[in-house]
Amino acid sequence: CFINFTVIFEKKKYMIYPIILYGNSVLREKCKDIVPSKVDVKTLSEDMFETMHSADGIGLAAPQIGISKRMFVVDGSSLDSEEMKGFKKVFINPKIVDESGEPWEFDEGCLSIPGIRGEVKRKSEIELSYFDENWIQKKECFSGMQARVIQHEYDHIEGKLFIDYLSAIKRKLIKNKLLEISKGNCDVNYNVK
Ligand code: NI
Repeated sequence: CFINFTVIFEKKKYMIYPIILYGNSVLREKCKDIVPSKVDVKTLSEDMFETMHSADGIGLAAPQIGISKRMFVVDGSSLDSEEMKGFKKVFINPKIVDESGEPWEFDEGCLSIPGIRGEVKRKSEIELSYFDENWIQKKECFSGMQARVIQHEYDHIEGKLFIDYLSAIKRKLIKNKLLEISKGNCDVNYNVK
């Protein structure tokens, strides 16, 4: 009957996308800006949050679900960190206006490159202009871990990955692992493609 169908629709409100693995060329594309009338960013951002949470991630960029557009979401509330508490945002057509501060290293990982981590040096402060999910333009400064998560996701929409920053030696060490990931051979508890 009709009522049952409605219930089913309510339950299927959000879509969890498979996460694109290293090796897929979409991760190497410079993404295009989003035209407001062409993309329902409210729905897409909800789907991206659902997808990211299902994979226990704290950041997810549109190319990681196969969409070559300049958009990413972050949510650090699952981390046990004062700094990241309440850091849940949608970034659309972002532009890093300025990057400054002392570069610092951190062991990064990526949902598209499971099982691999590596030290990446990034500047500690950024100034970012972007639109939120309501198409309100913002200009904000971020520092520390918040800046780092944004820098990592921003790289994704530029077609860059954290492994690009690793030393030649480290890259040699992970070469075979990367090859296996690109063949879909990895052990993860979320959907991949
Ligand atoms: Ni990533």
